[in-house]
Amino acid sequence: MILEEMRATHVASAELQAFCPFPDDIRAQSVCPFQIPSSALLQKDEGLFSDIYEGFRDAIVEAAPHAAWRQTFKGTNVSTRFLNEFGCYSLIGNGGPFESDIMKAWIVYMPARLYYPWHHHPAEEAYLCLAGQADYRKQGEADKVLRAGGVTIHKSNQSHAMETHECPVLNYVVWRNEFDIAPVLTYEDAR
Ligand SMILES: [Fe+2]
Repeated sequence: MILEEMRATHVASAELQAFCPFPDDIRAQSVCPFQIPSSALLQKDEGLFSDIYEGFRDAIVEAAPHAAWRQTFKGTNVSTRFLNEFGCYSLIGNGGPFESDIMKAWIVYMPARLYYPWHHHPAEEAYLCLAGQADYRKQGEADKVLRAGGVTIHKSNQSHAMETHECPVLNYVVWRNEFDIAPVLTYEDAR
């Protein structure tokens, strides 16, 4: 079950538990599924290697056809390919199968050779790489290449970006505050 996989993954990470202990107020809610092309790409992607999180990865892939996939950057300058292929659905929060007042959680999937432009939001955020590999960038700090088990944390309104090359990437992403303000692109040209 995806909730148990998510909880087990979260509590096993000292960095995530320090960022926000897994909440004890989780409740289930109904989901209105919404599919975008990224869902099918995730379901057939054979590049999501992970030697740590196979169970959570597989639960995320199994849930993909039933999820409400988001298009956070629709109407902005991002490319049509990005809108179609960048994958995000909620696990905890609006549109997700669970809700909490303490923490929100999403999966973020990117197929190979995709660029996620610089963006920011007031919420503090932690990314845990579950599978694959990507370049992770954040304003004022050195770029990092992360694969399964890697964590990166974004401060409030600290711009960040991500890019995949030969490999796709799958992340578990959590917010711990300022839930009501959505991410916005940092640059008008989406670079
Ligand atoms: Fe973010």
